[in-house]
Amino acid sequence: MSLADLKYLADVKYLPETPAHDPEIEAINDEAFGPGRFVLAAYKIRQAGPHERALSFVAVDGAIVVASVRMTRIAAGAGRALMLGPLAVQPAFKNLGIGRKLVAIALEAAAKAGAPAVMLVGDEPYYGPLGFRRLPRGQISMPRPVDPDRLLAHEIVPGAVARLAGEVCHADQARIAAHIAAMA
Ligand SMILES: CC(C)(COP(=O)(O)OP(=O)(O)OC[C@H]1O[C@@H](n2cnc3c(N)ncnc32)[C@H](O)[C@@H]1OP(=O)(O)O)[C@@H](O)C(=O)NCCC(=O)NCCS
Repeated sequence: MSLADLKYLADVKYLPETPAHDPEIEAINDEAFGPGRFVLAAYKIRQAGPHERALSFVAVDGAIVVASVRMTRIAAGAGRALMLGPLAVQPAFKNLGIGRKLVAIALEAAAKAGAPAVMLVGDEPYYGPLGFRRLPRGQISMPRPVDPDRLLAHEIVPGAVARLAGEVCHADQARIAAHIAAMA
């Protein structure tokens, strides 16, 4: 890491996300994932309800958002978890440890908030050292096709990952479905 990199890092601060960050986060995700992101399985789940703002974080350099991680409550069978993502870092700030730090902050916040587990769709070589493991093949499915090797989970409460089963949906959808079933 160069001296210039160290200066960058000294200036970067990590903050809980607020609505004021939305336009910059959108621009970072657009640059990182492109318009094709809207057809991804994880986006389909995220589009079904709000993300958990209190557990989502930005990295800022002065007043500028340089990276973001979001968390969304999900359900899969009897299991409940947070889904981490998108995680994206502005190109000029990549490889400085900002992505790793955002994941660590999000996991710590999730544990403090009592979340049982965190899952995501992502690269095991990146997320493995951050505490994520591959889910057993076939244990959960997504509403659109994904490479099963990219379904990863981080367990907070023992047994919570094993409880995730079947198709993953936004937690609000599961709540509404349970409410309708209870009324029938
Ligand atoms: C992936 C991403 C979030 C990483 O953030 P970052 O702040 O640049 O990464 P960090 O500084 O925390 O970590 C850098 C290390 O991760 C590695 N890395 C980055 N992306 C990786 C990937 N997809 N798979 C495996 N390793 C990866 C780098 O090679 C580097 O390795 P090194 O420490 O051995 O040199 C960032 O590159 C990004 O925004 N990418 C585009 C969007 C994206 O792919 N998001 C993740 C969705 S799964």
